[in-house]
Amino acid sequence: MTKRKVGIIGAGAVGATAAYSLSMMGVCGEIVLFDIAEGVAKGKAIDIGQSVHYAPVSTIVTAAESPADVNDCDIVVITAGVPRKGDMTREDLLMINAKIMKSVVEDVMKYSPDAVIICVSNPLDVMSYVIHRMTGWERNRIIGMAGALDGARMAYQIYNKLGYGAGQTGTLVIGDHGQHMIPLPHKVQVGSVNTLELLSKEEMEEIIERTRNGGAEIVKHLGTSGYYAPGRAIAYMVEAILNDSKVVVASSVLLEGEYGYSDVSVGVPVVLGKHGAEKIIEIELDDATREKFKTSVESIREGIDILKANKFFD
Ligand code: NAI
Ligand code: 2OP
Repeated sequence: MTKRKVGIIGAGAVGATAAYSLSMMGVCGEIVLFDIAEGVAKGKAIDIGQSVHYAPVSTIVTAAESPADVNDCDIVVITAGVPRKGDMTREDLLMINAKIMKSVVEDVMKYSPDAVIICVSNPLDVMSYVIHRMTGWERNRIIGMAGALDGARMAYQIYNKLGYGAGQTGTLVIGDHGQHMIPLPHKVQVGSVNTLELLSKEEMEEIIERTRNGGAEIVKHLGTSGYYAPGRAIAYMVEAILNDSKVVVASSVLLEGEYGYSDVSVGVPVVLGKHGAEKIIEIELDDATREKFKTSVESIREGIDILKANKFFD
């Protein structure tokens, strides 16, 4: 990756925070922001571009006048979407966001045909699946960001409970990015010590519940969903891909038989490198976790089925 150019489509709260985080890390040569709302990408690109003066390494930050300016990117991050409003049903929201995704993806295919796509827009797993269906690209090039955020939220809850081990906590959250996500307590370690030795069953149950409700908890306080942790999680994934660092991060990817499922995007541990999700790691699931994974996959399939029933893929 010579140019290290990253496109961010949707310069709202999450997209702009990802751009800011990347700029401060200095891992990209260039970041280009695009947003359909007039002035948003321009204003944020100027603001972030000026912040770069104090970054360790300079990054060029620009606003795209049109989708055609998001060209020749190594990675395109998609955060475009609309939130659920007033009388919208889940089905309405799904159809609206899927249509936005379709038009965004057509542009990405035209102007950045070799990119790796990181999907962020919700409902995350269904939108990631939509991108697979729209592009027909190799599955490693389409990655949904979810486990990186949910894992960070779980680590935060563990630290709050233990009061030590910040930055030393390895977590793993698989399944959908929603109510059926599966934080895996038996995989969690603090400084190589398994947390099953540090926390009671009840404490871990509370951590799992708070992780699952991590997004909703922020909405309760802020009136809108979080963007610092999502933005930073995106930047972490972008860095891993640009640097070909082969880190393991749970992400929503298209399964082709792994874990017993196909034709669905769902969060599982993957290896991130220059080709995107280069390897899916199949971990052993016990019976109870396999059952939860089934419920999680079914919840994603419900969304996909709504799109199918509305002839979205025809
Ligand atoms: P936001 O409303 O601040 O930003 C979304 C932006 O998308 C807006 O600026 C809007 O103008 C733009 N947009 C809409 N249609 C567009 C199009 N066709 N082309 C270009 N831009 C377009 O929302 P926020 O908070 O930034 O969240 C963005 C998305 O990310 C939402 O779907 C949200 O639910 C999701 N999200 C996902 C997370 C995850 O873990 N996967 C975490 C946090 C948010
Ligand atoms: C979150 O988890 C809304 O997906 C978003 O905060």
